[in-house]
Amino acid sequence: MIKNYKESFDKTKTAGRLAADTLDEVTPYIKPGISTNEIDKICYEFIKDNGGYSAPLFYRGFPKSCCTSPNHVVCHGVPTSKYLNEGDIINVDVTTMVDGWHGDTSRMFFVGEVSTKCKNLVSATYESLMKAISVIKDGAKLGDIGNTIQSHVERKGFSVVRDFCGHGIGNKFHEPPNILHYGKSGEGIKLQTGMIFTIEPMINEGIYNTKVLNDGWTAVTKDKSLSAQFEHTVGVTNDGFEIFTKSKKEYNQPPYKK
Ligand code: MF3
Ligand code: CO
Ligand code: CO
Repeated sequence: MIKNYKESFDKTKTAGRLAADTLDEVTPYIKPGISTNEIDKICYEFIKDNGGYSAPLFYRGFPKSCCTSPNHVVCHGVPTSKYLNEGDIINVDVTTMVDGWHGDTSRMFFVGEVSTKCKNLVSATYESLMKAISVIKDGAKLGDIGNTIQSHVERKGFSVVRDFCGHGIGNKFHEPPNILHYGKSGEGIKLQTGMIFTIEPMINEGIYNTKVLNDGWTAVTKDKSLSAQFEHTVGVTNDGFEIFTKSKKEYNQPPYKK
């Protein structure tokens, strides 16, 4: 048990709620013809108007307020003037800072109608995150989380990205431990009541290898296959977990009903 974790839970709850509300806010705008810069602007304004700061902005030189990662982009996609097309899938990743504490969450979106292959990848990724969260409790191991994700998606023929991972979070955006999305049950460090971290599996349709584009940020699949990701910020409790970034509108996985 981590001492005096109540305050960190309360502060993360506030930041996490704003991050989730931001994704709820942007949801109806994600349609063919919107640019990723416009998505970025909606996130920036909403977070500012609600008493927070967009943690990605200027983080290690990142130029925008959120990450927008369409199709074969794995993560850290930089918003641009390029617009979305019917049939695209896209991840929007929002991190808020409120009163010095962080909330980090991302969801996939369908742009208009998407293929069955897109739907299968996205639902497998969502299920892997939620199954992994369900194994969290004081005394469980980090390997239990990784193994849950890996076995779920590999059974469906998908692969787990190794080059990026989840992370501890709190009054810093990224802190130890690394949360790997693959591994063996019973291995790795023990979860303790009061720990706060993200789980954010990136799942590829093809091979798990990635490469970073010349902008220094945008990570894509090496084989140009599709990639999907969902992320929650979670806290460990004695008998389970608390999700700090749940959608109030139950926008859990696409398609999102009004
Ligand atoms: N939100 C991402 C994460 O889940 C990190 C983005 S860092 C940025 O950890 F600089 F690219 F924004
Ligand atoms: Co994160
Ligand atoms: Co994130």
